[in-house]
Amino acid sequence: MPGIRARRGEARVSRSAPRIRRSTRDVVILHDDTDSLKDRVGAEAHVGVWEAILPIEESLVKLGHRSRRISVGAGVTDLIQKIQNWRPDLVFHLAETAFGDTIGEAHLASLLDLLKCPHTSVGAEALIFCRDKLKAKSILREHGVLTPQHATSFDGRLPETLPMPPWISKPTLEDGSIGITSDAVTSDPIKLRRRVQRLHRLFSQPILIETYIAGREFNVGVVGEQVMPLAEIDFSGLPARSPGIVGYEAKWKYSSFQFKGTATLCPAPVSDAIAQRMYRVGLAALRALNVSGYARVDIRMDAKGQIYILEVNPNPDLSPIAGMAKMANIAGWGFDGLIDRILTHSLIRRH
Ligand SMILES: Nc1ncnc2c1ncn2[C@@H]1O[C@H](COP(=O)(O)OP(=O)(O)O)[C@@H](O)[C@H]1O
Ligand SMILES: [Mg+2]
Repeated sequence: MPGIRARRGEARVSRSAPRIRRSTRDVVILHDDTDSLKDRVGAEAHVGVWEAILPIEESLVKLGHRSRRISVGAGVTDLIQKIQNWRPDLVFHLAETAFGDTIGEAHLASLLDLLKCPHTSVGAEALIFCRDKLKAKSILREHGVLTPQHATSFDGRLPETLPMPPWISKPTLEDGSIGITSDAVTSDPIKLRRRVQRLHRLFSQPILIETYIAGREFNVGVVGEQVMPLAEIDFSGLPARSPGIVGYEAKWKYSSFQFKGTATLCPAPVSDAIAQRMYRVGLAALRALNVSGYARVDIRMDAKGQIYILEVNPNPDLSPIAGMAKMANIAGWGFDGLIDRILTHSLIRRH
């Protein structure tokens, strides 16, 4: 992220009023065919993208732009033809998958680059780095950024050496807490073995076993070079038996006690010194993974004040109830201001 203000000193949130663009832009919203994903594990997470698409369309209209949609489901030839015929000023890339596959998000970003079509997405290379939690961890460590200790099961069996318990286990290639259910945290090796086996059977991909970092969870959000107010996840509404995690239920099962008991505090109730440490670590993670664009970094701080990166989310959830929109509200941007800034950043950067 060349030029991000926090690189040269302290990270300061810009609270200036949203700049409403005067020129009308033709925007295409690109999304996957979510109907075809309704029967999948994690269906709510896949279909949940509409909770962002519809408000973004409303914002685009309010900001004076024209928007139309392209579904990847109609095929790549259709997509290429439409982009070439319509020549949009910008594609708002909201396809978290293409034909149901999470690697498709990166393929689509590459395709738009090849078509020389400006788009809102973080670059394909960074999408690929961040999609694979295992590879992202090794890149982060290479850059001196701390992540929780881990081991990986490539075949559904427990590896011989495990990190320190308690453990949290998760699929390496999923997002939106898919596979991170309320049984995800355990200190019992037998339960862990069963869960890892089950996850491997369900997702057919390597399963990551990490030391569960008990402590506070924070989010650093950025749009281009602008940092957003720090957010903290408040788990105090959860019953004692429930682990403090933003698992699948907390994200997508709106009537669950996990959803109701998990709140976002923004700005995070921390000292400025701690907030600056979070920004420093979060921005270091973004640089290590080559992320430029809009992104959210998930961070944990343990009882000793040690800060760990859980993961980096390029093109994170933009629905009005998700973290980015909450941070934008506290920054004084509002939802329209968030969308406007993403647009402006995407139009001025080189593709
Ligand atoms: N090592 C860990 N220690 C503590 N909590 C974790 C850890 N890994 C994941 N979590 C919890 O699970 C949530 C989802 O995990 P994350 O790695 O961010 O996957 P996803 O891509 O599905 O969001 C995190 O927000 C956090 O609450
Ligand atoms: Mg996450």
